[in-house]
Amino acid sequence: MPDSLVPIAPSYNGHLHTGPTAPTAILMLNLGGPQTADDVGPYLERMFLDRELIPLPFQERLGRFIARRRTPKIQKKYAQIGGGSPIYYWTQRQGQQMVKWLDQISPETAPHRFYIAFRYADPLTADALHQMKADGVRRAVAFTQYPQWSCSTTGASLNELWREILRLGLRDAFAWSLIDRWPTHPAFIEAMAGKICEGLAQFPPAERDSVLLLFSAHSLPLSVVERGDAYPQEVAATVQAVMQRLDFSHEFLLAYQSEIKPFKWLGPSTEQVIRKLGAQRRRNVLIVPIAFTSDHIETLHEIDIEFAELAREVGIANFKRAPALNDDPRFARALAQIVAEHLRGNRLYSTQYKLRCPGCQNPMCRTLLSPAKDIGCAEGSPAAEGQLSAA
Ligand code: FES
Repeated sequence: MPDSLVPIAPSYNGHLHTGPTAPTAILMLNLGGPQTADDVGPYLERMFLDRELIPLPFQERLGRFIARRRTPKIQKKYAQIGGGSPIYYWTQRQGQQMVKWLDQISPETAPHRFYIAFRYADPLTADALHQMKADGVRRAVAFTQYPQWSCSTTGASLNELWREILRLGLRDAFAWSLIDRWPTHPAFIEAMAGKICEGLAQFPPAERDSVLLLFSAHSLPLSVVERGDAYPQEVAATVQAVMQRLDFSHEFLLAYQSEIKPFKWLGPSTEQVIRKLGAQRRRNVLIVPIAFTSDHIETLHEIDIEFAELAREVGIANFKRAPALNDDPRFARALAQIVAEHLRGNRLYSTQYKLRCPGCQNPMCRTLLSPAKDIGCAEGSPAAEGQLSAA
């Protein structure tokens, strides 16, 4: 964790609204992470009680039980990576750089201000909404920080956003549009390709051509995949686009990590793939986290400590990780470009947003409250739809 990382007041993003022009808000949606050991328990409890993330039988009882049982183990892991999750720190850095670029490349929608809404850790969605209201925001873009769509991640964050807006009586406060996925945006792909090149530079030159690229994404419960979730196809699309950008310079595989036993999760598991690669006597493996945009416990602990140890055990001589995007300026520019294109366009959300998973039974999914009609979508078009039926 960076030295300068200290927990600070939720939702404060380093900007004060002083000018007469209402800012365009960019609400950065992400999972979040505990900043201190004491935050781990509440964080896990929020996660395991959320049916939209991990559907469990007897959610309330089993969720609390799993959270309680895992807390000491996860606290130890955070202690090994500096005491807490750096995701708040990195999201702030990304947001600060993003709005700086945005003010330059999209002056017509300036000033831009970013807000952070984490799903399971401070700052929570309500904190961000209160701050937006206090800052006089009218136009708001909900910008998922998960490049690839999943109903468990982006979908759950958006559902929480609509619930909180209604709970707080803020339905008329903001006009919304969504950036709900960006798995193959060229600027994101360019930034990812750059990180892989940095990763490859860690290998001895004589070995570099024989490196196998092992893309690793967070896994999903199989029950979510079988509902028709878009995540596997969007992760694969990112991998394919990155490899195309690299002109298919190396062999590559895609695997999934962080599954929670004893449930069935999407595979192949990264751990099992590392074992197989060892058995095949692969000497050089570069693991590439492909579904998160900053360091977190899955990169800093699961990959850098647990998988690195496993790789040593199974005889992989050079096991390295591509650096996370974190505050790479190429990535900040990519974020700004994605938002600028969205603000210039006339779409409230992606073509896929309104398409529910075939197995969906959640009436909250794919809602859009208070659409920003002034961006060119007529009444009666999808722009005007998506009103929450329960509202
Ligand atoms: Fe995918 Fe509801 S679970 S749309």
